[in-house]
Amino acid sequence: MLSRKASEDSHGQDSSYFLGWQEYEKNPYHPIHNPTGIIQMGLAENQLSFDLLESWIQRNSDAVEMKKLDGASVFKELALFQDYHGLPTFKNELVKFMAKIRGNVIKFDSENLVLAAGATSANEILMFCIADPGEAFILPTPYYPGFDRDLKWRTGVEIVPMHCSSSNGFRITSSCLEQAYQQAQNLNLNVKGVLITNPSNPLGITMTKSELHKLVDFALDKNIHIISDEIYSGTVFDSPKFVSIMEVINERIHENDEISKRVHIVYSLSKDLGVPGFRVGMIYSNNKMVVSTATKMSSFGLISSQTQYLLANLLGDDEFTFKYMDENKRRLKKRKQILVTGLRNAGISCLKSNAGLFCWVDMRHLLSSATFEAENELWKRILYQIGLNISPGSSCHCSEPGWFRICFANMSQEALQVAMRRIKIFTDSNSTMFSIKQQLVTSTKPIIITTVEGKLLIGFSSYHGKNNQKPINNFSSKIKK
Ligand SMILES: Cc1ncc(COP(=O)(O)O)c(C=O)c1O
Repeated sequence: MLSRKASEDSHGQDSSYFLGWQEYEKNPYHPIHNPTGIIQMGLAENQLSFDLLESWIQRNSDAVEMKKLDGASVFKELALFQDYHGLPTFKNELVKFMAKIRGNVIKFDSENLVLAAGATSANEILMFCIADPGEAFILPTPYYPGFDRDLKWRTGVEIVPMHCSSSNGFRITSSCLEQAYQQAQNLNLNVKGVLITNPSNPLGITMTKSELHKLVDFALDKNIHIISDEIYSGTVFDSPKFVSIMEVINERIHENDEISKRVHIVYSLSKDLGVPGFRVGMIYSNNKMVVSTATKMSSFGLISSQTQYLLANLLGDDEFTFKYMDENKRRLKKRKQILVTGLRNAGISCLKSNAGLFCWVDMRHLLSSATFEAENELWKRILYQIGLNISPGSSCHCSEPGWFRICFANMSQEALQVAMRRIKIFTDSNSTMFSIKQQLVTSTKPIIITTVEGKLLIGFSSYHGKNNQKPINNFSSKIKK
């Protein structure tokens, strides 16, 4: 009765990334009303600097009330405005803000900017502009789980994963790029480009200049596009500093000016300003055809003129934006440190990172085996037993089991501390379980061990493990709480 799209299951909503959100919704943590509920650590949202935005709003109520500085109302003007090119003042402030984030080493021209309803929409529009259904984009793994929906679902574009490895900190190499390209050829897929997120979601790291040069070499060699999703460019809170693909292109423009027409940036205010609900995203491209087509397409998901007006005023306040960016980074850095320290106390390490709203966490030692089944089993135990929703690496298409993304900026510091206590109890009980298991195998007598949240664990062993024979195959039935 309905379209194929409506009836088929290609949206990606059944990924553990989204399933974890659903479980959280059923039983959300609240310090007083639901202290044993699930803590949401699977959502890359920045709530750390809301007070700064709110105090700006209080000081500038005219902008919210749709008034000019002289008190004259712009209500009618905004209510009637429907130009899909966007408010010129807003676009000017956006390009200035983008330059500011990049230390003013690059100049952006508002003529090359297309507004869209979030980076979600901006990425999809670029797919529609660059690739036909059945054509492909290469994405380094691990990647943001939403891309399966944003890039593929409505466009029919295919994603070819490029597998990066923990052995070099998941960095992009020329051989990985070539391998992914070869894989696409084997699948008879025409590759139209590579899409990167810089800084990376989920790794929380910025790409080096040398990685970006390799990427440009590859794009030149294969005659393809590069999309750089720089949605986290303003959340780089530690060195090394952020380098945008545009900087690298500017350095190489003399070599081949065609490449600048094949590089496109996606940006949004969802992360750096922490306003995902405002749905403010954009495409920046030096390709006139892409800008013109994307602008026409943007009419399917525009930003309301009221939002544009408010944010034009906010971004136009230079003193505020500088202070906000500085303070926001300081808070993010501190927050990340609380997570890293808490995890370290529980014997868990993270990939060294300098950006983003999350850490890429190594839990390989907690897996019962080095498989994605074991990763899924661990994810479920963490979700249901200790009430933390984190995102398993498999949902980010990581090729190595045992990595998880943990977000740190979408909750209060107290909630993060509760989460860290829970994870410590979990890893302690895990190692106690391991030692009980060992003792059950080797002991000839019943053993009694007290541990885990003050509960008494008693293990009974009814056979001689040392010299013989049967492994324990029903361990849990031998343990009574
Ligand atoms: C890399 C990346 N791109 C795009 C998005 C979507 O952002 P928006 O809320 O602006 O649509 C996200 C959100 O998490 C993201 O992490």
